[in-house]
Amino acid sequence: MKKDLLGLKDLSAENIKHILDTADAMKLILKQPNKKTPHLQGKTVVNLFYENSTRTRLSFELAAKYMSANAANITAGGSSVQKGETLTDTARTINAMGTDILVMRHSMSGAPHLIAPLVSASVINAGDGMDEHPTQALLDMLTIREKKGHIDGLKVAIVGDIYHSRVVRSNIYGLTKLGAEISVGGPATLIPQGMEKMGVKVFKSVHEAIVDADVVMGLRIQLERQKSGLFPTLREYYRFFGIDEKRLKFAKPDALVMHPGPVNRGVEFSSGVIDGAQSVINEQVTSGVAVRMAVMSILSDGGFEE
Ligand code: CP
Repeated sequence: MKKDLLGLKDLSAENIKHILDTADAMKLILKQPNKKTPHLQGKTVVNLFYENSTRTRLSFELAAKYMSANAANITAGGSSVQKGETLTDTARTINAMGTDILVMRHSMSGAPHLIAPLVSASVINAGDGMDEHPTQALLDMLTIREKKGHIDGLKVAIVGDIYHSRVVRSNIYGLTKLGAEISVGGPATLIPQGMEKMGVKVFKSVHEAIVDADVVMGLRIQLERQKSGLFPTLREYYRFFGIDEKRLKFAKPDALVMHPGPVNRGVEFSSGVIDGAQSVINEQVTSGVAVRMAVMSILSDGGFEE
């Protein structure tokens, strides 16, 4: 059994479907006036975040509390990391306090893979550098399956900063395993070489990527990770690659509009598209709590089948 969730690259389609089915049941709990369940009673969940977060950190914390766990948060800024403690020493320290689940976000790709074999706690990757963000892709898949009834055969277009995105990598692994067809689009400078080898179609223009799409997923332009000018200005990005109501018409009329957040309004999407009838961005956030409840419940019950 696998005690950790480090990415979707090494998770089977059966494991992914098991998480989504469990998350469906968790959603029913979230609709109750009393959201308390005993799934994680007596367990301790620690969120260790070396990068900023609103959605992921809060939804893991709420998910843990809804399932009756003891939940605590540490951020790099307020911890002994500031005194020079290494990541492995910090993780071992947290583990020694009786932690059952360690949720980690780090700017370095592979950080949770380094820690997982060193601790008895289950490690969940909450985003590592430009590598993976598995629970984000799982909540995206849960939202798509809920809205469309299935994932197999859907055309999913992912547009924006493909190069820096851990969300796109996890979504490509997960969605292709469940039978979706994926197109990616964006400026050539923000699409890595050899992307086609991941089983996706690559387009340098947005309208080609989103034509007839069932799902249009925008990715945040990650200003904090741009080392040199990969595109001239945000205004120019929006002009050529931003999706407004007019450009969205290239997709199917009932296409879902999705974004992992945080959104740069007027960059990836117009405000009209973000707040429009096709947008399921807020539903994605709700799915995030259910998916994180499902993942922690499965890991606490022994982990994923190899
Ligand atoms: N989607 C996502 O990871 O958002 P946060 O950075 O707010 O957690």
